[in-house]
Amino acid sequence: IATLRSWIESCGPGGMVFFGGAGVSTESGIPDFRSTGGLYSHSQKYSYPPETMVSHSFFEAHPQEFFQFYFDRMIAPEAKPNQAHKKLAELEQRGVCRAVITQNIDGLHQVAGSRNVYELHGSVHRNYCTGCKRFFNLEETMQLHQAATDGVPRCPDCDAIVKPDVVLYEEPLDEEVITGAVQAIAQAELLVVAGTSLVVYPAAGLLRYFQGDKLAIVNLSPTSADKSADLCINAKVGEVFGW
Ligand code: OAD
Ligand code: ZN
Repeated sequence: IATLRSWIESCGPGGMVFFGGAGVSTESGIPDFRSTGGLYSHSQKYSYPPETMVSHSFFEAHPQEFFQFYFDRMIAPEAKPNQAHKKLAELEQRGVCRAVITQNIDGLHQVAGSRNVYELHGSVHRNYCTGCKRFFNLEETMQLHQAATDGVPRCPDCDAIVKPDVVLYEEPLDEEVITGAVQAIAQAELLVVAGTSLVVYPAAGLLRYFQGDKLAIVNLSPTSADKSADLCINAKVGEVFGW
C-alpha cells in the first residue's frame, strides 16, 4: 500500500489513470456481482438467474421481470461516495489523476467530484424513452416505475418504455466512451486497476492499451491480470485510498 501511495504521489501531471469495477462501490454499501452475496448469487425471489435478467433479449421479452430486478437490486439512490471515490476526485483536482474509467453505473465518482469519468456501462442517472427519446433522471424514472401497475416505467408523452442508459449483455458499448478510455489508458504512466474481476469484455480488454511502466491491481480476490502487474494489493480499495 505504501508503494502504491508513493507511486501516486510521485506521478507526473496526469500520469495516473484509474480503472475500476463494482468493488470500488462495495464500501458504499452496493453489492458487487461475483463475490459471495453479490448480485449474481442466486436468489429464490426471482424466477430467472440474475445474469440472464441483465441481457437485452431478456429486457425485450420480460420487461416486467427486468424492472423488478433492476429497481430491487441494481440501483442504490441512498449510497454515498466512499474514501476511494473521494481520494480519486482529490487526485484529479491536484492534476495527478487523468481519468477514471469505471464499469459502475452508480455515478458515485461524479458525486464525489470527479469530472473526467468514462462510464463504460452507462449510468442509472440517465434514462430515455424508447419512443420519443425524452430524458428522465433517476428520481423521475423511479416515480414512473412506482406509478405503473406492472412496474414498467412508461413515458408520460408517448407511453413507450423508459429504458435506463445502462449497457446490458448483448448491447454494444458507446464508441465515444471507449475512445476516450483507450486514449486515457494509452497516456498513463501509472494504471491502477481496482475492484474488478476483469472477466467482462470488452471492458477488461482495454488494459492492453496501457504502455506505461507501473500497473497496480487492488482487489480482494485474484484477477487474470495479476501476473502482468507490477504490484498486486489484496486489500479494500477504500482502505488503500484512505490517506
Ligand atoms: P465483479 O463482481 O465481477 O468483481 C468485483 C471484484 O471486486 C471482485 O473480484 C471482488 O473480490 C472485488 N472487491 C469487492 N469489494 C472490494 C473492495 N472493497 N476492495 C477491493 N476489492 C473488492 O464486478 P466487476 O468486475 O465490476 O456489467 O464486473 C464487471 C461487469 O460485470 C459489471 O460492470 C457488470 C457485470 O455484468 C454489466 O452489467 C454490463
Ligand atoms: Zn416518449
